[in-house]
Amino acid sequence: MVLGSYFSHKEGGDTAFTVEAPKIKFGSGALSEVGEDARALGVTRMALFVDPAIATLKPTEQVIGALVEAGVDHGLYTDISIEPTDASFKAAAQFVQEGGFDGVISLGGGSTMDTAKAANLYASHPDDFLAYVNAPIGAAKPVPGPLMPHIACPTTFGTASECTGIAIFDFVEMQAKTGIAHARLRPALGVLDPTVLETLPPMVVAANGFDVFSHAFESLTARPFSHRDKPLGPAMRPLSQGANPYSDIACQEAIRLIGGNLVQGVVDPTPETREALMFAGMLAGIGFGNAGCHIPHGMSYAVAGLVHDYQAEGWPAHHPLVPHGISVIVNAPSVFRFTGPTCPERHLMGAQAMGAETDGVAPEEAGALLADRIIEMMRATGVPNGLSGIGYSEDDLDRLVAKAGPQQRLLVNAPCPVSEDDLRGLFQDAMRYW
Ligand SMILES: NC(=O)c1ccc[n+]([C@@H]2O[C@H](COP(=O)([O-])OP(=O)(O)OC[C@H]3O[C@@H](n4cnc5c(N)ncnc54)[C@H](O)[C@@H]3O)[C@@H](O)[C@H]2O)c1
Ligand SMILES: [Fe+2]
Repeated sequence: MVLGSYFSHKEGGDTAFTVEAPKIKFGSGALSEVGEDARALGVTRMALFVDPAIATLKPTEQVIGALVEAGVDHGLYTDISIEPTDASFKAAAQFVQEGGFDGVISLGGGSTMDTAKAANLYASHPDDFLAYVNAPIGAAKPVPGPLMPHIACPTTFGTASECTGIAIFDFVEMQAKTGIAHARLRPALGVLDPTVLETLPPMVVAANGFDVFSHAFESLTARPFSHRDKPLGPAMRPLSQGANPYSDIACQEAIRLIGGNLVQGVVDPTPETREALMFAGMLAGIGFGNAGCHIPHGMSYAVAGLVHDYQAEGWPAHHPLVPHGISVIVNAPSVFRFTGPTCPERHLMGAQAMGAETDGVAPEEAGALLADRIIEMMRATGVPNGLSGIGYSEDDLDRLVAKAGPQQRLLVNAPCPVSEDDLRGLFQDAMRYW
């Protein structure tokens, strides 16, 4: 392919890739336009979902002010569970069902945006709770018709939930994190106003920033779309289609912005670092929405799911929890040492974009160089020292491998094959970095 040797044709491989582009508005002051945005979408009464931590802060005032000014009525819901559950999704759906709304607006992190998506779905197309939930836990029934328009306004910058048709929750009975995924869940508009990050606790900034880096770098090093088997028909092409020339552009810039701004964004944030980090999150969202993540995210489900008693600073302390971004980045240095030899030039590109000195570095050192730079940034931002830093030991290796192994959707998107033995070695190497 003229667009790069990484995408060279492979016998039987795919020959086309698709581009999904979410509708986004970005910039400081964007929140004050949501009333007009709601009107343009034909909404007269909004179900307004707000993260409890920001319900009394400026962004909430701005959104309510903008709705009032545009003559759009609203009902407020702040009973969001951070890391939502089936019960919290159901309660939110009941609020929408009974409130006579014709639109939904969410202001908060992934937990809030996902709650709004699920509430919109069950209020618009009531069914058994498990009907729409991903198989094998649920029946993965396709959403039968359009939902009410949803304007999603993130107050964090890592999940890119404003770009996706995914809502994630803990299915408490089975101790499993699962979700609902359908294109109709995708918000009609994402509104990214970097000023909302002013109150974000430093460890939430760190977790989001490393999640963004991982989305971008995993997408950049995903198996090229041209090496995945050509689908039997266009409808069979997976969402995680592999690295492609479009996602590459977004991901490279996202990595550069994280490399240049994350440490300062955690220890001494400025309006400029907030803007850079939020823009990086948006770019990485576009990148992984078109390419897909791989091993660090696959391992993260095991790391989050098997949590012992770790509680992170900056999150409500109701129960042990490994925040998503932390559960990903603790695996990343170990994984990139492993994947480095498969596509050294991309690991070198990533290391350079993150701020490492790459002059004179041999291709076989690329993975280790990137790992060292990530570790340096983890230490500078106060992130735990690998799996041991969040309470795991060698005794957990069997369970970690058993829980990560089934994440095949992510693992097959890696640039090289990953066996169970490889996974064990990767978890082992991720135990401690300094
Ligand atoms: N739908 C998707 O595509 C998708 C993708 C990745 C992750 N997720 C899900 O998103 C959730 C995590 O979302 P998140 O990382 O955005 O965090 P979050 O919504 O869980 O919030 C994290 C913490 O930050 C607080 N907070 C949020 N914004 C704040 C602000 N501006 N100022 C002060 N405090 C603030 C919250 O109250 C909470 O304590 C998880 O449930 C995860 O599974 C969804
Ligand atoms: Fe992520």
